[in-house]
Amino acid sequence: MNKNRIDVKIETKKGSMDEWPEPIVRVQSLAESNLSSLPDRYIKPASLRPTTTEDAPTATNIPIIDLEGLFSEEGLSDDVIMARISEACRGWGFFQVVNHGVKPELMDAARENWREFFHMPVNAKETYSNSPRTYEGYGSRLGVEKGASLDWSDYYFLHLLPHHLKDFNKWPSFPPTIREVIDEYGEELVKLSGRIMRVLSTNLGLKEDKFQEAFGGENIGACLRVNYYPKCPRPELALGLSPHSDPGGMTILLPDDQVFGLQVRKDDTWITVKPHPHAFIVNIGDQIQILSNSTYKSVEHRVIVNSDKERVSLAFFYNPKSDIPIQPLQELVSTHNPPLYPPMTFDQYRLFIRTQGPQGKSHVESHISPR
Ligand code: OGA
Ligand code: NI
Repeated sequence: MNKNRIDVKIETKKGSMDEWPEPIVRVQSLAESNLSSLPDRYIKPASLRPTTTEDAPTATNIPIIDLEGLFSEEGLSDDVIMARISEACRGWGFFQVVNHGVKPELMDAARENWREFFHMPVNAKETYSNSPRTYEGYGSRLGVEKGASLDWSDYYFLHLLPHHLKDFNKWPSFPPTIREVIDEYGEELVKLSGRIMRVLSTNLGLKEDKFQEAFGGENIGACLRVNYYPKCPRPELALGLSPHSDPGGMTILLPDDQVFGLQVRKDDTWITVKPHPHAFIVNIGDQIQILSNSTYKSVEHRVIVNSDKERVSLAFFYNPKSDIPIQPLQELVSTHNPPLYPPMTFDQYRLFIRTQGPQGKSHVESHISPR
């Protein structure tokens, strides 16, 4: 068991986290060079390739939940909405929310400022080039394994909280409005996350601030990864982002309003999410699966790409304070329902995806306590 954790230790001892194992190639540069074929590094083995890159006309979608009226002065009062969220967290691990309280204009401004940033020439962005030590800045891969298969995307990663990690110098300065917009967007998403955390706690019969407390109260972490998926010449052979579960607490995704791409695993099939206008896509991450002792599910997802449209998405991650041990909540375990996971800090936990890259659900599964 836990072979993965041992590998992580060796990687960090070697100090290989300070640089990428090979020169970084920007996917944007590949996309702009009019390739007639896809470089080998981006070709997935047949078993991992998307079954379709068309928006399959299927009726299945993740649940869409209207939050109107849920967060009233009297507290969380609407049993129907609460029950729908509970069901979504246990089954899908994913749901869309509408009437969430974040202004549509701010959502559009955030995405369109980032689109402008990614439209700058690659050279202009290299000053923000990131390293695997912190991942902050402009990046084009996850994981440090030499020769690893790569995904068809570039990204930008930055910290919003805690305050001592929020560093405007590591944020882009173009377009001129971007810092201000990200800052406001971040504040709104921290607020929304706090509200959803109360719902998640209450739905497990816990006092409403239980999850927030377990996350370290005021000292939680919040970061943003903006994903840029350029047009891909052979979308049927590649993935924009390989299957993974999110290592953190909870993710709030703002998808592209024009272009689908996110797929969520439901049993053995991949369901393409059809984004509802101005909805956010919320999903449970590994840390909440762990705290809930697996009542809530951190579900595998991936991103497909296409040949005629680029795609921009903003993934906001709401995480526990990074140096406190996270383990199943005492209230949720008993002799009949023993804790499934040993304690681990998020700092330690996230080394897995930072060194190995996206690997389905293998991390949270390898983290299960020996029996
Ligand atoms: C992520 C992610 C999905 C998307 O950034 O972790 O799953 O649609 N993104 O870009
Ligand atoms: Ni994800």
